[in-house]
Amino acid sequence: MEDFDYLRDGDVYLDSACQSLRPRPVIEALNKYYTEHNSCGERVKYAWGRKTDELVEDTRAAILKYLKLKSKDYSVSFTLNTTYGINLLLSQFKSDIFKKVMTSDIEHNSPFLATMTFAKRQGIPREIMTRERDGSIDVSNYDFTKALVVVNSASNIDGRKLLNIKEIVKKVHQQGGIIIIDAAQALAHSSDILEKTEADAICASAHKMYGPSLGIMIVCRKLFDLIETSFIGGGMVDDVDADRYQLSADSPNHAYTKFESGLQAWGEIVAFGEAIKWLESRTKADKANLANCVERLYDFLKSQPKVHLINDTPNPTMSFYIEGLDSHMLGAALSNEGIMARTGYFCAHYYLDHVMHYPPLIRFSFGYHIRPADIDKTIKILERILG
Ligand SMILES: Cc1ncc(COP(=O)(O)O)c(C=O)c1O
Repeated sequence: MEDFDYLRDGDVYLDSACQSLRPRPVIEALNKYYTEHNSCGERVKYAWGRKTDELVEDTRAAILKYLKLKSKDYSVSFTLNTTYGINLLLSQFKSDIFKKVMTSDIEHNSPFLATMTFAKRQGIPREIMTRERDGSIDVSNYDFTKALVVVNSASNIDGRKLLNIKEIVKKVHQQGGIIIIDAAQALAHSSDILEKTEADAICASAHKMYGPSLGIMIVCRKLFDLIETSFIGGGMVDDVDADRYQLSADSPNHAYTKFESGLQAWGEIVAFGEAIKWLESRTKADKANLANCVERLYDFLKSQPKVHLINDTPNPTMSFYIEGLDSHMLGAALSNEGIMARTGYFCAHYYLDHVMHYPPLIRFSFGYHIRPADIDKTIKILERILG
């Protein structure tokens, strides 16, 4: 694809679950910010700043539109990444709101560890729910009364999705709980699962959805009353006296400032707007190419007796190990051939190592940059390795 024309023949990038390759229009939007209107947003009155403000506002609106959410219900803030967003929320909840905190077994360390420290700090129990093979959670097994629930909407191991997300959100709310979704892996290729969601907050990473390095927080306005702002500084206040301040976030139009302390990554926010446009304009052919490449590699891996595939179904993210072969060594061998894949436990140590007792795995994760020749090459090399 011409938007990835910088990718050399023979280089096979299979680490999109970590960071997507960025298409040209996104890189150009970032360059344009630096070369045409490099300026601080939301503070300056000169023309460059007004241009930045306009584009930043467009990005906030675009991500809500992407998920079919309304600005009267949700406010969009930007941070460093998913991990930062989750921690920012969990570290600022008032005390005595929650009776327990709940997460699931297939979480990335990002929510897994943040819920651990949250439980300790708040002096409340933490419960780890079991995800079904298809990614759903059997809600009949759990009591969400006054619980804070933090779970992913798609796994970074095998892409399995929280298929019954609507049912969970509903039950959590009925029982007086709050639910935060880690959408790091869902927004690029499974965003439909979050459309019109009623979750209380969504944290995600633009760098996993063809955007620049940037975190996204989509926070339900109703949640704001439960947050005691403590991570605070420039860009967040309308007035300051010796020992008192007025938060800008108290005004509904500036609610997003509640989580944006100090100068923001304006260029990245602007370029992220371009990434959303780019994602929305993927054609049927682009999607078919991605699906075909995923399926071909999945079918190949599935057909190999020595390959233990974690996935039950094809997904742009797939993990496996090969009997009798160290995954780190396999990763190094693939790297020598120009194939870039991840090895280890991908920050999901608890599930992969302590629940499933798998050896370190290898993960192939795909993006729209993938070419049929990449799959030909990967299969050929794996065939050679497998003998
Ligand atoms: C499901 C999931 N959650 C959270 C994260 C953390 O994302 P970041 O490193 O951008 O904070 C990742 C990263 O791979 C992820 O896959």
